[in-house]
Amino acid sequence: MAVKISFLNLKGGVGKTSLLVNVASCLAYMGKRVLVVDFDAQSNSSIWLMRLDRWNALGRNPNNFILSAFKEEGADLRQCIQKDIIRNADDEKVLSGLDLIPASFRLMDLEHEVSNPWGKPFYAHFQEELTEIEDKYDYIFFDCPPSFFITSQCAIFSSDHIMVPANPDALSIIGFHLLVDKLESFNKQSYRWRQELSVPEPQILGISLNAVKLGTNIEIPIERFNAQIERFAAQGKIPETACIFPEYIRHSVSIGRAVMQGLPMVLMSKREASMTVAEDYIKTAQRIVSLTTQEAAATFGSN
Ligand SMILES: Nc1ncnc2c1ncn2[C@@H]1O[C@H](COP(=O)(O)OP(=O)(O)OP(=O)(O)O)[C@@H](O)[C@H]1O
Ligand SMILES: [Mg+2]
Repeated sequence: MAVKISFLNLKGGVGKTSLLVNVASCLAYMGKRVLVVDFDAQSNSSIWLMRLDRWNALGRNPNNFILSAFKEEGADLRQCIQKDIIRNADDEKVLSGLDLIPASFRLMDLEHEVSNPWGKPFYAHFQEELTEIEDKYDYIFFDCPPSFFITSQCAIFSSDHIMVPANPDALSIIGFHLLVDKLESFNKQSYRWRQELSVPEPQILGISLNAVKLGTNIEIPIERFNAQIERFAAQGKIPETACIFPEYIRHSVSIGRAVMQGLPMVLMSKREASMTVAEDYIKTAQRIVSLTTQEAAATFGSN
């Protein structure tokens, strides 16, 4: 069974997509089978991983996108999977094991315009569809919008963990607080379906600080984040193990270049990319593997 992780923060522009695309690629590079599900109508992770030309070409058939899996007449989730998604200009595979279920801008229709024929909430329908494909992957990552609407709910309902990308500033701390509150109320609201489908509640895996500028003093926001984390852990709202990952993602202008080239940082040439930020992503990927493997071992041991 795959380890399923939502990348979520209710604050926008904090680095959710950048972290997800790069960590997913590092894991594939390490030999894991990884699926990225783009649940954000902005389609940023789809466009990054496919480049604009290929993503545009995909638009000729709406059944290629995640939205179709929610429509009665649409494709099932399996048919939306784009295999070995990262390609060079000649359409040759440059990384094996990284698949994508892409989004399109039409995904925003799910909030109001797509009727629900399933007799259950969209998140319960999505979970049932995901069950059909998840044994093919080691990791499934969900790229979420900075909101708590239907697509985020689908991602959260199906996730084992939530990874919280954040910037070291006061607004990110507020976004985290809001996220924990919203998670609590969604868990209550979806309780019946969790029971029915035997799906446990997701837990916060950790906070990954992004775009940290060398030489900037970030002690105060970190202290505040840690105080917040301690309070939530004491209230039982997040696990004791949840913490700020010690490997920060440094600020780097080469992220923008990577998006243009449709490549993750680990596949950028040394000439064009800051290798330090690629190392930050590799270390973060290693920490995610270590935390999720320890947990799997502990669960196995207790059975
Ligand atoms: N480490 C970094 N250094 C410099 N710029 C970064 C870094 N990480 C991300 N960025 C830039 O910050 C912007 C926001 O990043 P990203 O799209 O990953 O955030 P997001 O949280 O997914 O945003 P949204 O809420 O809109 O989905 C992008 O322009 C991206 O190129
Ligand atoms: Mg994003």
